[in-house]
Parts: sequence; C-alpha cells; structure tokens
Amino acid sequence: MSPAKAVLALDAGAPGTAINPNVYGHFAEHLGRCIYEGLWVGEDSPIPNTRGIRNDAVAALRKIRVPVLRWPGGCFADEYHWRDGIGPREDRPRMINTHWGGVSENNHFGTHEYMDLCAQLGCEPYICGNVGSGTVREMQEWVEYLTSDADSPMANLRRANGREAPWKLRFFGGGNENWGCGGSMRPEYYADNYLRYNTYVRNLSGNTVYRVACGPRGADTVWTEVLMQLAGTAMNALSFHYYTVAGEWTDRGLATGFDEARWHLTLRRALDIDGLIAAHSAVMDRYDPAGAVALIVDEWGTWYDVEPGTNPGFLYQQNSLRDALVAALHFNIFHRHARRVAMANIAQTVNVLQAMILTDGPRMLVTPTYHVFEMYAVHKGASALPVALESPDYALGGSAIPAVSATASRDAAGTVHLSLVNTDPNRPAEVACRLSGPVGSRAHGRILTAQDMDAHNTFERPAAVAPAEFTGFSTGEGAAKVSLPPKSVVTLAFVD
Ligand code: AHR
Repeated sequence: MSPAKAVLALDAGAPGTAINPNVYGHFAEHLGRCIYEGLWVGEDSPIPNTRGIRNDAVAALRKIRVPVLRWPGGCFADEYHWRDGIGPREDRPRMINTHWGGVSENNHFGTHEYMDLCAQLGCEPYICGNVGSGTVREMQEWVEYLTSDADSPMANLRRANGREAPWKLRFFGGGNENWGCGGSMRPEYYADNYLRYNTYVRNLSGNTVYRVACGPRGADTVWTEVLMQLAGTAMNALSFHYYTVAGEWTDRGLATGFDEARWHLTLRRALDIDGLIAAHSAVMDRYDPAGAVALIVDEWGTWYDVEPGTNPGFLYQQNSLRDALVAALHFNIFHRHARRVAMANIAQTVNVLQAMILTDGPRMLVTPTYHVFEMYAVHKGASALPVALESPDYALGGSAIPAVSATASRDAAGTVHLSLVNTDPNRPAEVACRLSGPVGSRAHGRILTAQDMDAHNTFERPAAVAPAEFTGFSTGEGAAKVSLPPKSVVTLAFVD
C-alpha cells in the first residue's frame, strides 16, 4: 500500500515549555493484584524481595525512572484508614475492600511499606487522603505522622514503629473522585470540605505540601469552575481522570483478539483527552491566567473488559501494541499541554488496567506500554517544542483520526528528540520534516511495532513486543524524511 504523506515542521530554537518529568508518573492502588503480589510479596515470600517488596518489579521500574507514585487509591483511598496500616503486621486489623472484589485486605502494606517502596524506586510519594469517609483529625494526624520532627504524639508513634526521621512528602491529595466513589458530593460541598480538610494539612518541620484538590468528572467544566472559584487559591493542582474506554461501560471489549473497528475506536477515544484538557484548562485560565494551579491527570489509561476467568473486581487485562500507541498518543498530548499539565499517573503500575508490569506468581513481564515509557524518557524535563503537523486521516467506518501524531523536545544538552506515531494499522506513513534552528544533522532512532494489532508479551514469550533499532529515515540539511511502518511508535534523536 502506498504510504500516507504527512508534513511536519519544527523549530528547534523555539523557547518551549518544560515537560515536567512527573508526567511520566504512576498510580498503584489496593486493587486486585497491583499491591499484593505485584509489588508486595511479604518478607517470607520465596519471591526475591527486599523488606517484602519484590525485587524484579523494583528493578524494572527503576529502569524507566518512575518519578512519582500515587497511592493508596483511587476509590480505595476514601475508605482507607491509615492507622490500620502501621505497627506490627500481625496486629493490623483486616478490612473488606468493598470497591475491588470484596476481598479481605490485611493492611500488611501500609505507610511504612509504601514509603520504603518509593525509596527503593527512587521516586516521590504522592498520597491521596481520605475525605469521603475519614475525619479531618485522621488526615491531620497522617501528615503529622509522616512529616513531623517534633516531640508530638504522631511523630512519637512513628518513632515507636521504627522510623526515627520524618519522611519528606510533597504531593498530597484531598480525596479521590469525590463526585463519585469519594463521597458523591456536589462541587460546592466538596469545595467546602476540601478547604476544611486542607486547613489541617500542615507544613511541618520544613516539609511543604503540594496540595491537590479533586477535579472534574469527564467534561464537567462546572466542577472545575466551582473549584477554581471557591478553592483555587488553596490548591497547587486540580486532578483529572480520563480512561480510554473503547465502547460502552457494559461492553469495553477485550485487551486482545479485537478487530480493527475496536482498534480505531480505542485510539479515537484516547485522542479525546486532548479536548477535555483544553476545556478544563480554558476554565482554569480564567481564574488563574498565570498558570499557578496545575492540572494533573492522576489517573489515565485503557480500561477493557477483564481477562476471561479473572475476578471482575480485579481489573486485570493484557496489554498490547494498541496500548503502546495509546500511551504514546497521551504523552504527545500531555507535552502539548505542558504549561498546565504538571503530572500524570498511569493506571496502574502492575496487574491492573494499563499496566507496565504483569506478574504470575514468581514470573514477571514488562508490557508494550512499559516500552513506550522507556522510549519516551528522553522527553522528561526537556522543553516541548512546537510542532506543526499536517497529517492525512486514518478513516474507518465513517470516522477519522489523524494517521500521524508527533511530539518533539529539546533536552538540557540541546539534543532534539522527535517521537512519531502511525495510528493506521495497514498503511505506512511518510513524514517529510522541515527542521529549523539548532538541530543535529544526523539521527538515530528506535521503533516499537509488531505484525498484529494485538501483539503482546506473555510469560512464555516476554519479549514478543520490544523496541528495536529504527533505520527508516534519511536526513539532510534542515530536513528529514521518516518512513513509519503501520501501527508504530518511533523516537528519533538528532545529533551532530
Ligand atoms: O483505577 C481504577 C479506579 O478508577 C480508581 O480507583 C478510581 O479513582 C477510578 O474510577
């Protein structure tokens, strides 16, 4: 098939907006096998671990330099009572995880274990507090327990539990989806509650909390408006969740074995986040033209029907090349909104929804989505460069999306990286690039692609989908031509 022709222009000398590395953040909830088995196996497990945290998962996540990890939920956060998760593990009370499968939660993974996980990963913690069913006092005491160096009740309790020095905790969320599972609140009621709870989230012992308020559901800009109006000056960020659902909630389709219609719909739905971010940003711009309050997409990713035979409450799904493209499209969009979008956390890190890692007891694999995080790592902290792209459509069944999506950035050393996605699973695309400003005249690149739309890694073939060297391009003075195979993600570095 003849290639679709796209034209791209980028100015490597443009000032650009810094891409916050936290846009490559993660989210791990007490849900299914994310925390238990996926990250926490316990000190007595035959699975190699460090203080109960599995070594293979930590090693894989360290490679992609996870910047920040949100915990303990999600919906679980507004039912979580942190004092159940401290002290000797055998004494910790159990609870029922009502949101996620109704299973018994033994609280063996609590505050100390989570902070240890963050330390082992070398990432920043991001804790979501309980506004839905917890008390102001409970939240106040959690922050004191974590961050106070004083001779105070909670700091002393922490010391009694074996941790002398306070931790540093920057990111703290005032509830999760409080319009839904976090308390079914109206925006005015939530704003008042947020202000009340937030008053007692203290900056203690030199720790400064970055305060995240619960943001809107979907396209509900009224929520954004009310929150910015009533509480905009008491927050550092408003959170926003967006899941790519390729169908109705009652028929989301499977993660593998889908047809092209589902492929197309998935990518179209993934691209919809662009308009939603723009709509909420426009409201925020009215109240905060300087951009002091960030929009953080602290849950995003694909949400399919669960794998046949698995617990519907565990949200376990395979992860294919389609998910890799969804991830790349999201990053391209987040980079475009770098001025407002200061963090994004994929849901979720292990064994749940669009995971980086899947485990089966002692076995572990990394997914195509993981590989996109790794390939796109070059953009972390770099300056997002404006890209003008004219792309032909990839059309199917009366609906069309751009065949090519692109992002570019300039890193601290001055190297320009260009990432491209070809959404069309059948047709190659040829991208004629005009490059101006200081940009290297040679390039090297990597590609993620596969034969099948649903190509994925299994425990038997864990490297079925993996990045490879990419040579399908030519460079000239101020120009490059890139030949993208169908359904591919490519990252190029321009060097001298
Ligand atoms: O990630 C799964 C769930 O999706 C989270 O618990 C909740 O915040 C969202 O609705």
